[in-house]
Amino acid sequence: MKAALYDPEHGYYQRSDRERWGREGDYRTSPERSQLFSATFALYFARLYEELERPAQWTIVECGAGDGSFAAGVLQTLAVQFPAVFAATKYVVCEVSQDAQRRVRERLVEFGDHVQFSDLVPIDIGIYFSNELLDAFPVHRLVRTEQGLSELYVNVDSSGAFVWATGPLSSPRLAGFCDTYSVELAQGQVIEINLAADDWLAQVASKLAGGFVITVDYGAESAELYDPARPKGTLRAFSRHSFVDDVLSQPGEYDITSSVNWTQVKAVGEKLGLKVVDFASQDKFLLQAGLLEELDQQLSSAETEGQKASLTTGAREMILPGGMASSFQVLVQRRVKEDV
Ligand SMILES: C[S@@+](CC[C@H](N)C(=O)[O-])C[C@H]1O[C@@H](n2cnc3c(N)ncnc32)[C@H](O)[C@@H]1O
Repeated sequence: MKAALYDPEHGYYQRSDRERWGREGDYRTSPERSQLFSATFALYFARLYEELERPAQWTIVECGAGDGSFAAGVLQTLAVQFPAVFAATKYVVCEVSQDAQRRVRERLVEFGDHVQFSDLVPIDIGIYFSNELLDAFPVHRLVRTEQGLSELYVNVDSSGAFVWATGPLSSPRLAGFCDTYSVELAQGQVIEINLAADDWLAQVASKLAGGFVITVDYGAESAELYDPARPKGTLRAFSRHSFVDDVLSQPGEYDITSSVNWTQVKAVGEKLGLKVVDFASQDKFLLQAGLLEELDQQLSSAETEGQKASLTTGAREMILPGGMASSFQVLVQRRVKEDV
Protein backbone atom coordinates (compact mmCIF):
# COMPACT_ATOMS: atom_id res chain seq x y z
CA MET A 1 0.00 0.00 0.00
CA LYS A 2 2.90 2.31 0.81
CA ALA A 3 4.51 1.68 -2.58
CA ALA A 4 1.19 1.81 -4.44
CA LEU A 5 0.38 5.22 -2.99
CA TYR A 6 3.74 6.87 -2.31
CA ASP A 7 6.46 5.34 -4.52
CA PRO A 8 8.33 8.45 -5.76
CA GLU A 9 7.79 7.52 -9.42
CA HIS A 10 4.75 5.25 -9.69
CA GLY A 11 2.86 5.92 -6.45
CA TYR A 12 -0.71 7.11 -6.94
CA TYR A 13 -0.24 10.31 -4.92
CA GLN A 14 3.10 11.15 -6.51
CA ARG A 15 2.06 11.00 -10.14
CA SER A 16 1.78 14.26 -12.02
CA ASP A 17 -0.05 12.63 -14.96
CA ARG A 18 -3.04 11.69 -12.82
CA GLU A 19 -6.07 13.87 -12.04
CA ARG A 20 -6.84 12.65 -8.52
CA TRP A 21 -9.30 15.18 -7.18
CA GLY A 22 -12.53 16.73 -8.40
CA ARG A 23 -15.19 15.75 -10.90
CA GLU A 24 -12.61 14.65 -13.49
CA GLY A 25 -10.57 12.75 -10.91
CA ASP A 26 -11.12 9.66 -8.80
CA TYR A 27 -12.92 11.12 -5.80
CA ARG A 28 -14.13 14.39 -4.35
CA THR A 29 -13.33 15.29 -0.79
CA SER A 30 -15.41 17.72 1.31
CA PRO A 31 -13.25 20.80 0.57
CA GLU A 32 -13.84 20.22 -3.16
CA ARG A 33 -17.53 19.49 -2.81
CA SER A 34 -18.34 22.70 -1.01
CA GLN A 35 -16.48 25.91 -0.24
CA LEU A 36 -18.65 26.02 2.91
CA PHE A 37 -16.54 23.22 4.40
CA SER A 38 -13.34 25.28 4.61
CA ALA A 39 -15.21 28.54 5.31
CA THR A 40 -17.02 26.96 8.28
CA PHE A 41 -13.74 25.55 9.60
CA ALA A 42 -12.28 29.07 9.30
CA LEU A 43 -15.09 30.31 11.62
CA TYR A 44 -14.26 27.50 14.00
CA PHE A 45 -10.52 28.28 13.87
CA ALA A 46 -11.27 31.96 14.61
CA ARG A 47 -13.19 30.82 17.70
CA LEU A 48 -10.26 28.65 18.81
CA TYR A 49 -7.96 31.64 18.30
CA GLU A 50 -10.08 33.54 20.86
CA GLU A 51 -10.00 30.53 23.19
CA LEU A 52 -6.23 30.54 22.96
CA GLU A 53 -6.33 34.20 24.09
CA ARG A 54 -5.45 35.80 20.78
CA PRO A 55 -1.75 35.01 20.48
CA ALA A 56 0.32 37.55 18.51
CA GLN A 57 1.33 34.67 16.22
CA TRP A 58 -0.13 31.23 15.80
CA THR A 59 0.34 28.41 13.33
CA ILE A 60 -2.14 26.25 11.47
CA VAL A 61 -0.44 23.12 10.11
CA GLU A 62 -2.40 21.21 7.48
CA CYS A 63 -1.15 17.67 6.95
CA GLY A 64 -1.97 16.05 3.61
CA ALA A 65 -3.27 19.19 1.92
CA GLY A 66 -4.08 17.48 -1.40
CA ASP A 67 -4.82 20.09 -4.07
CA GLY A 68 -4.94 22.96 -1.53
CA SER A 69 -8.71 23.60 -1.64
CA PHE A 70 -9.03 23.60 2.14
CA ALA A 71 -6.02 25.85 2.69
CA ALA A 72 -7.22 28.36 0.08
CA GLY A 73 -10.75 28.44 1.57
CA VAL A 74 -9.55 28.89 5.14
CA LEU A 75 -7.03 31.62 4.29
CA GLN A 76 -9.53 33.45 2.10
CA THR A 77 -12.23 33.41 4.80
CA LEU A 78 -9.84 34.49 7.55
CA ALA A 79 -8.48 37.32 5.37
CA VAL A 80 -11.97 38.66 4.58
CA GLN A 81 -13.93 37.95 7.76
CA PHE A 82 -11.25 37.83 10.46
CA PRO A 83 -8.37 40.08 9.35
CA ALA A 84 -6.83 40.19 12.84
CA VAL A 85 -6.69 36.38 12.98
CA PHE A 86 -5.34 36.26 9.42
CA ALA A 87 -2.58 38.76 10.34
CA ALA A 88 -1.44 36.46 13.17
CA THR A 89 -1.63 33.25 11.09
CA LYS A 90 1.24 31.25 9.68
CA TYR A 91 -0.21 28.41 7.56
CA VAL A 92 2.13 25.46 7.15
CA VAL A 93 1.40 22.91 4.43
CA CYS A 94 2.81 19.47 5.17
CA GLU A 95 2.39 17.22 2.13
CA VAL A 96 4.44 14.16 1.13
CA SER A 97 3.45 14.25 -2.51
CA GLN A 98 5.76 16.46 -4.59
CA ASP A 99 3.06 16.75 -7.21
CA ALA A 100 0.43 17.88 -4.69
CA GLN A 101 2.93 20.34 -3.18
CA ARG A 102 3.50 21.91 -6.59
CA ARG A 103 -0.26 22.34 -7.09
CA VAL A 104 -0.76 23.81 -3.63
CA ARG A 105 2.13 26.26 -4.11
CA GLU A 106 0.49 27.62 -7.25
CA ARG A 107 -2.89 27.83 -5.57
CA LEU A 108 -1.72 29.69 -2.46
CA VAL A 109 0.63 32.17 -4.10
CA GLU A 110 -1.69 35.11 -3.29
CA PHE A 111 -1.24 34.54 0.45
CA GLY A 112 2.49 35.28 0.22
CA ASP A 113 4.56 34.66 3.31
CA HIS A 114 1.60 33.59 5.43
CA VAL A 115 2.19 30.17 3.80
CA GLN A 116 5.12 27.82 4.32
CA PHE A 117 5.87 24.27 3.15
CA SER A 118 7.51 21.93 5.59
CA ASP A 119 7.56 18.55 7.32
CA LEU A 120 5.85 18.37 10.68
CA VAL A 121 7.12 21.50 12.46
CA PRO A 122 7.26 22.29 16.16
CA ILE A 123 4.59 24.84 16.97
CA ASP A 124 4.25 26.90 20.08
CA ILE A 125 0.56 27.52 19.75
CA GLY A 126 -1.94 26.62 17.04
CA ILE A 127 -3.70 23.80 15.23
CA TYR A 128 -2.74 20.60 13.49
CA PHE A 129 -5.51 19.92 10.96
CA SER A 130 -6.04 17.02 8.55
CA ASN A 131 -8.88 15.89 6.30
CA GLU A 132 -8.79 12.34 4.94
CA LEU A 133 -5.15 11.86 5.88
CA LEU A 134 -5.27 8.94 8.32
CA ASP A 135 -7.35 6.80 5.94
CA ALA A 136 -4.56 7.16 3.36
CA PHE A 137 -1.85 5.71 5.64
CA PRO A 138 -0.58 2.22 4.72
CA VAL A 139 -2.14 -0.42 6.97
CA HIS A 140 -1.38 -3.96 8.05
CA ARG A 141 -3.99 -6.59 7.19
CA LEU A 142 -4.50 -9.41 9.64
CA VAL A 143 -6.52 -12.58 9.24
CA ARG A 144 -7.48 -15.38 11.62
CA THR A 145 -6.61 -18.74 10.09
CA GLU A 146 -6.74 -22.23 11.58
CA GLN A 147 -3.16 -21.70 12.74
CA GLY A 148 -4.03 -18.47 14.57
CA LEU A 149 -3.46 -14.82 13.81
CA SER A 150 -1.56 -14.18 10.55
CA GLU A 151 -0.68 -11.19 8.43
CA LEU A 152 -1.61 -10.80 4.78
CA TYR A 153 1.34 -10.05 2.51
CA VAL A 154 1.41 -9.33 -1.23
CA ASN A 155 3.08 -11.99 -3.36
CA VAL A 156 3.43 -12.65 -7.11
CA ASP A 157 1.94 -15.79 -8.66
CA SER A 158 3.34 -17.81 -11.60
CA SER A 159 1.49 -15.60 -14.10
CA GLY A 160 3.09 -12.48 -12.62
CA ALA A 161 -0.09 -11.22 -10.96
CA PHE A 162 -0.14 -9.84 -7.42
CA VAL A 163 -1.86 -12.15 -4.93
CA TRP A 164 -2.43 -12.22 -1.17
CA ALA A 165 -0.31 -14.60 0.92
CA THR A 166 -0.38 -15.24 4.66
CA GLY A 167 2.64 -15.16 6.94
CA PRO A 168 3.64 -14.43 10.52
CA LEU A 169 2.94 -11.01 12.03
CA SER A 170 5.55 -8.53 10.82
CA SER A 171 5.72 -6.61 14.11
CA PRO A 172 5.09 -7.42 17.78
CA ARG A 173 3.13 -4.16 17.88
CA LEU A 174 0.31 -5.90 15.96
CA ALA A 175 -0.34 -8.50 18.65
CA GLY A 176 0.01 -5.72 21.25
CA PHE A 177 -2.62 -3.73 19.37
CA CYS A 178 -5.06 -6.68 19.42
CA ASP A 179 -4.54 -7.04 23.20
CA THR A 180 -4.98 -3.32 23.87
CA TYR A 181 -8.24 -3.07 21.96
CA SER A 182 -9.49 -6.58 22.86
CA VAL A 183 -9.70 -7.57 19.20
CA GLU A 184 -11.14 -11.09 18.78
CA LEU A 185 -11.31 -12.25 15.18
CA ALA A 186 -13.66 -14.92 13.85
CA GLN A 187 -12.19 -17.66 11.66
CA GLY A 188 -11.36 -16.15 8.24
CA GLN A 189 -12.07 -12.59 9.36
CA VAL A 190 -9.76 -9.89 7.95
CA ILE A 191 -9.04 -6.57 9.64
CA GLU A 192 -6.74 -3.60 9.09
CA ILE A 193 -4.44 -2.12 11.70
CA ASN A 194 -3.17 1.40 11.11
CA LEU A 195 0.07 1.61 13.12
CA ALA A 196 1.13 4.61 11.01
CA ALA A 197 -1.69 6.59 12.65
CA ASP A 198 -0.09 5.96 16.08
CA ASP A 199 3.31 7.05 14.78
CA TRP A 200 1.88 10.18 13.17
CA LEU A 201 -0.01 11.18 16.34
CA ALA A 202 3.12 10.65 18.43
CA GLN A 203 5.03 12.99 16.12
CA VAL A 204 2.28 15.60 16.15
CA ALA A 205 1.96 15.46 19.94
CA SER A 206 5.70 15.91 20.30
CA LYS A 207 5.62 19.02 18.07
CA LEU A 208 2.56 20.77 19.52
CA ALA A 209 3.30 22.75 22.69
CA GLY A 210 -0.23 24.12 23.00
CA GLY A 211 -3.42 24.05 20.95
CA PHE A 212 -5.55 21.61 19.01
CA VAL A 213 -5.32 18.53 16.79
CA ILE A 214 -8.34 18.35 14.49
CA THR A 215 -8.80 15.17 12.50
CA VAL A 216 -11.56 14.72 9.94
CA ASP A 217 -12.05 11.31 8.38
CA TYR A 218 -14.42 8.38 7.97
CA GLY A 219 -14.20 5.63 10.50
CA ALA A 220 -15.81 3.86 13.41
CA GLU A 221 -15.11 2.76 16.95
CA SER A 222 -12.93 -0.32 17.34
CA ALA A 223 -15.77 -2.69 18.32
CA GLU A 224 -17.75 -1.79 15.21
CA LEU A 225 -14.78 -1.88 12.87
CA TYR A 226 -13.63 -5.29 14.04
CA ASP A 227 -17.08 -6.82 14.44
CA PRO A 228 -17.21 -10.31 12.85
CA ALA A 229 -20.24 -8.96 10.94
CA ARG A 230 -17.62 -7.14 8.83
CA PRO A 231 -15.57 -10.21 7.86
CA LYS A 232 -13.62 -8.60 5.01
CA GLY A 233 -12.32 -5.47 6.73
CA THR A 234 -12.51 -2.01 5.19
CA LEU A 235 -9.60 -1.85 2.73
CA ARG A 236 -10.89 -0.48 -0.56
CA ALA A 237 -9.84 1.37 -3.68
CA PHE A 238 -11.48 4.08 -5.78
CA SER A 239 -11.09 5.01 -9.37
CA ARG A 240 -13.26 7.52 -11.24
CA HIS A 241 -15.75 7.68 -8.36
CA SER A 242 -16.31 3.88 -8.31
CA PHE A 243 -15.01 1.02 -6.19
CA VAL A 244 -12.22 -1.09 -7.69
CA ASP A 245 -12.97 -4.81 -7.30
CA ASP A 246 -9.43 -6.02 -6.65
CA VAL A 247 -7.11 -3.60 -4.83
CA LEU A 248 -4.08 -5.53 -6.15
CA SER A 249 -5.05 -5.33 -9.82
CA GLN A 250 -3.28 -2.11 -10.87
CA PRO A 251 -1.32 -0.51 -8.05
CA GLY A 252 -0.55 3.17 -8.65
CA GLU A 253 -3.70 3.63 -10.73
CA TYR A 254 -6.14 4.31 -7.92
CA ASP A 255 -6.52 5.49 -4.36
CA ILE A 256 -6.41 2.84 -1.62
CA THR A 257 -7.91 3.57 1.76
CA SER A 258 -9.26 2.06 4.97
CA SER A 259 -11.60 3.30 7.71
CA VAL A 260 -10.08 5.05 10.71
CA ASN A 261 -10.28 3.42 14.14
CA TRP A 262 -11.44 6.34 16.31
CA THR A 263 -11.07 4.37 19.56
CA GLN A 264 -7.38 4.04 18.72
CA VAL A 265 -6.87 7.71 17.77
CA LYS A 266 -8.60 8.91 20.95
CA ALA A 267 -6.77 6.46 23.25
CA VAL A 268 -3.33 7.10 21.76
CA GLY A 269 -3.95 10.86 21.95
CA GLU A 270 -4.93 10.64 25.63
CA LYS A 271 -1.67 8.81 26.38
CA LEU A 272 0.23 11.57 24.61
CA GLY A 273 -1.51 14.36 26.54
CA LEU A 274 -4.16 15.22 23.93
CA LYS A 275 -7.58 15.43 25.55
CA VAL A 276 -10.71 14.82 23.49
CA VAL A 277 -12.78 18.03 23.54
CA ASP A 278 -15.20 17.22 20.73
CA PHE A 279 -16.14 14.22 18.61
CA ALA A 280 -19.10 14.48 16.26
CA SER A 281 -20.31 13.49 12.84
CA GLN A 282 -19.12 15.99 10.23
CA ASP A 283 -22.62 17.29 9.40
CA LYS A 284 -23.45 17.98 13.06
CA PHE A 285 -20.04 19.54 13.65
CA LEU A 286 -20.42 21.90 10.68
CA LEU A 287 -23.93 22.94 11.72
CA GLN A 288 -22.73 23.70 15.21
CA ALA A 289 -19.72 25.59 13.89
CA GLY A 290 -21.96 27.96 11.87
CA LEU A 291 -22.38 26.47 8.37
CA LEU A 292 -25.89 27.93 7.90
CA GLU A 293 -24.81 31.42 8.99
CA GLU A 294 -21.87 31.20 6.57
CA LEU A 295 -24.24 30.04 3.83
CA ASP A 296 -26.48 33.10 4.41
CA GLN A 297 -23.51 35.42 4.30
CA GLN A 298 -22.12 33.89 1.10
CA LEU A 299 -25.57 33.83 -0.55
CA SER A 300 -26.06 37.52 0.16
CA SER A 301 -22.79 38.38 -1.56
CA ALA A 302 -23.15 35.88 -4.46
CA GLU A 303 -23.41 37.72 -7.77
CA THR A 304 -24.95 35.12 -10.06
CA GLU A 305 -27.67 32.50 -9.88
CA GLY A 306 -25.00 29.92 -10.75
CA GLN A 307 -22.97 30.87 -7.66
CA LYS A 308 -26.08 30.66 -5.48
CA ALA A 309 -27.00 27.25 -6.87
CA SER A 310 -23.50 25.93 -6.28
CA LEU A 311 -23.58 27.20 -2.68
CA THR A 312 -26.92 25.56 -1.89
CA THR A 313 -25.97 22.29 -3.58
CA GLY A 314 -22.74 22.26 -1.59
CA ALA A 315 -24.58 23.03 1.64
CA ARG A 316 -26.96 20.15 1.00
CA GLU A 317 -24.05 17.75 0.48
CA MET A 318 -22.55 18.90 3.78
CA ILE A 319 -25.66 18.61 5.98
CA LEU A 320 -28.28 16.33 4.41
CA PRO A 321 -29.12 13.45 6.77
CA GLY A 322 -27.66 10.26 5.35
CA GLY A 323 -25.51 12.29 2.94
CA MET A 324 -21.77 12.12 2.41
CA ALA A 325 -20.89 14.24 5.44
CA SER A 326 -22.87 12.12 7.88
CA SER A 327 -20.49 9.21 7.37
CA PHE A 328 -17.47 11.36 8.26
CA GLN A 329 -16.43 12.33 11.77
CA VAL A 330 -14.52 15.25 13.30
CA LEU A 331 -12.27 14.67 16.30
CA VAL A 332 -10.90 17.66 18.23
CA GLN A 333 -8.13 16.99 20.75
CA ARG A 334 -6.47 19.63 22.89
CA ARG A 335 -3.07 19.98 24.47
CA VAL A 336 -3.03 22.51 27.23
CA LYS A 337 0.19 24.48 27.15
CA GLU A 338 2.32 23.76 30.18
CA ASP A 339 3.70 26.91 31.79
CA VAL A 340 7.38 26.57 32.59
C1 LIG B 1 -7.01 11.48 0.49
S1 LIG B 1 -5.89 12.77 0.17
C2 LIG B 1 -6.73 14.12 1.00
C3 LIG B 1 -6.34 15.47 0.48
C4 LIG B 1 -7.01 16.68 1.14
N1 LIG B 1 -6.83 16.71 2.56
C5 LIG B 1 -8.48 16.77 0.79
O1 LIG B 1 -9.29 16.67 1.70
O2 LIG B 1 -8.80 16.97 -0.39
C6 LIG B 1 -4.54 12.40 1.26
C7 LIG B 1 -3.35 13.32 1.10
O3 LIG B 1 -2.43 13.10 2.17
C8 LIG B 1 -1.09 13.10 1.67
N2 LIG B 1 -0.28 12.35 2.65
C9 LIG B 1 -0.27 11.04 2.90
N3 LIG B 1 0.56 10.74 3.93
C10 LIG B 1 1.07 11.90 4.35
C11 LIG B 1 1.97 12.26 5.40
N4 LIG B 1 2.52 11.34 6.19
N5 LIG B 1 2.28 13.57 5.55
C12 LIG B 1 1.76 14.52 4.74
N6 LIG B 1 0.90 14.23 3.73
C13 LIG B 1 0.56 12.95 3.54
C14 LIG B 1 -1.24 12.48 0.29
O4 LIG B 1 -0.16 12.78 -0.54
C15 LIG B 1 -2.56 13.11 -0.18
O5 LIG B 1 -2.34 14.32 -0.83
